[in-house]
Amino acid sequence: MSWSGHTLSHIAAASGPWLPSASTSAERVDSLLWFITVLSAFFFVLVVGTMVVFAVKYRRRTPGQKTANIHGNRTVEIVWAAIPAVLLVIIFARGFHDYMDMAVPPGDSIEVRVTGQKWFWSFTYPKLGINSNELVVPVDRPVKLTMSSMDVIHSFYVPAFRLKRDVLPNRYTVMWFNPNQTGTFDIFCAEYCGTGHSVMLGQIKVLSDVEYRKWVDSGGGMSGEGMSSVDFGKQLFTRQGCATCHSVDGSKKTGPSLVGRFGNVESLIGGGTVTVDDNYLRESIMNPGAKVVVGYEPVMPTYAGKLKEEQTNALIDYIKSLGAKP
Ligand code: CUA
Repeated sequence: MSWSGHTLSHIAAASGPWLPSASTSAERVDSLLWFITVLSAFFFVLVVGTMVVFAVKYRRRTPGQKTANIHGNRTVEIVWAAIPAVLLVIIFARGFHDYMDMAVPPGDSIEVRVTGQKWFWSFTYPKLGINSNELVVPVDRPVKLTMSSMDVIHSFYVPAFRLKRDVLPNRYTVMWFNPNQTGTFDIFCAEYCGTGHSVMLGQIKVLSDVEYRKWVDSGGGMSGEGMSSVDFGKQLFTRQGCATCHSVDGSKKTGPSLVGRFGNVESLIGGGTVTVDDNYLRESIMNPGAKVVVGYEPVMPTYAGKLKEEQTNALIDYIKSLGAKP
């Protein structure tokens, strides 16, 4: 899988000369980073400058010149120990304060469950009954993420928010943020998790309050209202991450291409065949390990409980619309 072109251009486009800063935690992290950078630059110039001046001023001028016998200077030693000590305590205090703040989500946060799996992210809003593979949030409201993985260790990374935390199987990790500007921000996976690691991307959409309410009222844009079943299925196909593993142009990815697949008779791992009909598609979405076609690994996650009845129907209608075997 090519990671180079895609991911790098993605990062470059997202960053510009400086990383965009789009959350309250990003402001804190940047402010402390700049404080440390300026402090370090100041002392670098002070120490190296003094060193150069002294090297010139006190250099040996004649071959026989003896080095002066210098004793300690208590005042100077106390000063050069005390000033750095105070500065380090300031850095620690600021870092600790910000760390604690970033570790504890505010009580009024919007709660979102994040699921990482090979190789996409999905988001569930337990209080709203919405599933999405885009993280959509309102501006200036704290959002708490409760994250877990369906398979291996992933890492949820949002550079614009200065957020990164591992996402583990069998355990929840928690993170929160307060976006302070609207826009679309990239999510990366920052833990090598297999061949699709570099395409394990996602987006956070930060909307105005009004836009966010509209999104919630539309069921996260997943109600399919006013759309044909095929169009709705096509939208779900992208949003639910199906397209990560299944192409619709005949090329082989992690899973079989779904173009011209309907009506085929496929050989199964473990022997036997199956006709690709409505029921087989349904079974493969809900219980993907049941009948795996020869040449593929049983790696697809189940969508049982994630898709509503009409969403499952729409996906099947979309796959059917990709055509039968000629
Ligand atoms: Cu998931 Cu890398």
